[in-house]
Amino acid sequence: MITIILLFLAGHSWFGASANIPFTSGSTDEVALLAFKAKITRDPYNILETNWKEGTSFCNWIGVTCGHKHRRVTALNLSSTGLKGTIAKEVGDLSFLVSLDISNNYFQGYIPEQLGNLKRLRGLYMQLNELSGQIPQTFGFLTRIQELVLYNNSLTGPIPPAIFNLSSFQVIDLMYNFLEGTLPTDICNNLPNMESLNVSHNQLGGQIPSSFSRCSEIKFLALSHNEFTGSIPGTFGNLSKLEQLYLGYNNLTGELPKAIFNISALRILTAQFNNISGSLPHDICKQTPHLEDLLLFVNLLDGQIPSSISYCQSLQQFSLAYNNISGSIPAELGNMSALQYLYLGANNLTGEFPFNTFNVSSLRAIDLAENRFSGSLPKDVCFRHPNLGYISLSDNNFTGGVPAEFWNLTGLQHLDLSNNNLTGEVPFNLFNLSLLEDFEAMGNKFSGSLPQDLCFRFPKLRTFAIERNQFHGQIPSSISQCTSLDTLDLASNNFIGTVPGDVGKNMSMLRNLVICYNNFAGVIPPSIGNMSRLLILCLTSNRFSGKIPPELGQLPRLEGVFIEGNQITGRIPPELGQSSSLGRLFFRSNNLTGEIPPSIFNISTLRELHLSGNQLSGNLPPIT
Ligand SMILES: *[C@@H]1O[C@H](CO)[C@@H](O)[C@H](O)[C@H]1NC(C)=O
Ligand SMILES: *[C@@H]1O[C@H](CO)[C@@H](O)[C@H](O)[C@H]1NC(C)=O
Ligand SMILES: *[C@@H]1O[C@H](CO)[C@@H](O)[C@H](O)[C@H]1NC(C)=O
Ligand SMILES: *[C@@H]1O[C@H](CO)[C@@H](O)[C@H](O)[C@H]1NC(C)=O
Ligand SMILES: *[C@@H]1O[C@H](CO)[C@@H](O)[C@H](O)[C@H]1NC(C)=O
Ligand SMILES: *[C@@H]1O[C@H](CO)[C@@H](O)[C@H](O)[C@H]1NC(C)=O
Ligand SMILES: *[C@@H]1O[C@H](CO)[C@@H](O)[C@H](O)[C@H]1NC(C)=O
Ligand SMILES: *[C@@H]1O[C@H](CO)[C@@H](O)[C@H](O)[C@H]1NC(C)=O
Ligand SMILES: *[C@@H]1O[C@H](CO)[C@@H](O)[C@H](O)[C@H]1NC(C)=O
Ligand SMILES: *[C@@H]1O[C@H](CO)[C@@H](O)[C@H](O)[C@H]1NC(C)=O
Ligand SMILES: *[C@@H]1O[C@H](CO)[C@@H](O)[C@H](O)[C@H]1NC(C)=O
Ligand SMILES: *[C@@H]1O[C@H](CO)[C@@H](O)[C@H](O)[C@H]1NC(C)=O
Repeated sequence: MITIILLFLAGHSWFGASANIPFTSGSTDEVALLAFKAKITRDPYNILETNWKEGTSFCNWIGVTCGHKHRRVTALNLSSTGLKGTIAKEVGDLSFLVSLDISNNYFQGYIPEQLGNLKRLRGLYMQLNELSGQIPQTFGFLTRIQELVLYNNSLTGPIPPAIFNLSSFQVIDLMYNFLEGTLPTDICNNLPNMESLNVSHNQLGGQIPSSFSRCSEIKFLALSHNEFTGSIPGTFGNLSKLEQLYLGYNNLTGELPKAIFNISALRILTAQFNNISGSLPHDICKQTPHLEDLLLFVNLLDGQIPSSISYCQSLQQFSLAYNNISGSIPAELGNMSALQYLYLGANNLTGEFPFNTFNVSSLRAIDLAENRFSGSLPKDVCFRHPNLGYISLSDNNFTGGVPAEFWNLTGLQHLDLSNNNLTGEVPFNLFNLSLLEDFEAMGNKFSGSLPQDLCFRFPKLRTFAIERNQFHGQIPSSISQCTSLDTLDLASNNFIGTVPGDVGKNMSMLRNLVICYNNFAGVIPPSIGNMSRLLILCLTSNRFSGKIPPELGQLPRLEGVFIEGNQITGRIPPELGQSSSLGRLFFRSNNLTGEIPPSIFNISTLRELHLSGNQLSGNLPPIT
């Protein structure tokens, strides 16, 4: 209790502490506070229950601050006290109130319109509650309001345009509500002091008003995650103090105004997931040296990456992924000493990536996937990128081998080399990447075998996908030690040998076991029945013999069993009929005998059943 009291005594600089002036009962303020208390239905720390007692001086009640002289309530702060209930309309009678903070509680219901009577109110904080209904029109009368913070509620309806006429405003944060309608076209005509406006994560639409340019003091503007349409006003370029501009996840079209890149204060510009077209200005970054985040992924941008990007020496996150950027990478990108995240995937980039001059030790993630890059992989990456955790180079035309130096990236968690033109042996045994989670190298021309101790070297492995290569040898005996493995995809290689009998022992996370199109032989280990999350089992086109393990019928999520083109004998186990998840059974071209167990036709999820090319007998059940 002591800590809570101390917390509340630490008031805001706007008000003095309460003085010891004799107390008068029955005043307007006391009535209003008791009305507030009466609407509280839950008070888990008994703050109001034990402390807010009629007949004691309300100026000493927890959360209440009074003025020095007049002994009227100037601040009410019950933030984070676990209170539940509705807001009493009598709070609007606390006519000396300067600050009202009931944030981070469980208040429900509407915001009473009587709060519009609080003529002296400068700060209203009701964020992180469960308030619904509209923002009262009467808020247009709060002529001294500086901060209105209502984020994370369930407010609906339009934002009353009158609030944008309150020239005292500095901060408006309405993020995470369900507000709809448009912003007034003259939004900033009377907001000379506005510093931060956040309406992200609502359902606002219409165009972004060009009058934003009149909010000349604005530093933070967040319009993201709404339904704004039209183009980004070029007049934004007048906002010389703008530091952070969030425009992502709307329906914006047209070009990025060049003038935005004239705002030298700009640190964050995000406009991802829109339909923005055009190209980046050729002199980008010359006027915005402080830019830290430039996120433009999933748009319609074309043109090239300007070499002047390197003037953004503070750039940490740079994403142009999923656009139509073409040309080659300017060598200057390699000088960006603060860069941490470089996402250029799914564009039309060509030429060689300047790996050899790419001297960015801060780099954490690089995504070049789905472009038309060529050339060979970098050599001395290890020293230059000690923090590198994520590399995706898939779907390009990289050639040559995987340099041994690659394996000294001790922080590497994700490596995707799939669908390139890479050759040679992967030097798996050169280093221990103890953090590696995803290794994907599908669709290359890799050869060689897997080390026996694969799963000791890569203990965190989640995805190991090397299908469509020329690997040979056996499944490593350590495979059952890959206890985090989700996907094992060895399909379409030249693997031989048997599947280790204990494969299912510890691999309870495995969802995809895909080893089709190889030369595996032996039986299907019954221990697969322990892989309780297994979704897909693909053994097609191998030389498996023996029986279908009845244990497969127990796997609660198993969706597809593909064992075509093997030498499986015996009966189809009737236990498969117990499954409530199987959708596809591909048993074609084996040596299955006996009758088709009728239970198979009880599997309500079954969509495809392929049994041709066996020696099955008996009748099919009537089609229902
Ligand atoms: C209300 O009290 C909390 C906890 O002491 C404090 O963090 C917050 O800034 C206060 N609110 C106002 C508006 O002063
Ligand atoms: C605010 O709401 C969003 C969406 O419901 C949620 O993801 C976020 O965690 C909430 N913020 C806080 C601080 O609770
Ligand atoms: C804002 O103020 C102007 C001038 O005082 C007035 O003409 C306009 O109607 C007001 N707008 C709203 C929405 O109250
Ligand atoms: C709203 O956006 C501003 C920046 O524009 C940011 O400072 C603020 O934290 C955001 N509000 C929330 C609830 O995240
Ligand atoms: C924006 O700035 C230009 C000059 O840079 C000026 O001509 C224009 O009036 C300004 N626009 C607004 C809306 O302030
Ligand atoms: C975005 O615009 C496209 C076409 O202009 C339209 O089909 C789509 O419904 C719009 N989406 C939203 C959320 O307004
Ligand atoms: C950017 O600023 C420069 C110098 O202040 C000015 O000459 C140029 O016209 C501005 N560009 C845009 C697009 O506003
Ligand atoms: C990629 O760029 C080439 C020219 O370099 C162009 O011919 C091709 O149409 C572009 N591809 C796409 C999908 O835009
Ligand atoms: C792979 O490289 C060969 C020759 O080096 C080339 O003919 C072929 O087109 C390349 N394949 C792809 C998918 O780029
Ligand atoms: C891939 O690179 C090889 C060797 O540089 C080249 O011969 C081939 O044409 C390239 N393939 C494509 C599709 O660009
Ligand atoms: C990897 O690092 C070790 C020591 O950290 C060093 O001895 C070895 O030469 C490096 N290997 C490669 C291929 O760079
Ligand atoms: C299937 O069994 C028959 C006789 O039982 C045998 O002749 C044949 O080779 C077997 N086929 C395969 C693909 O194993």
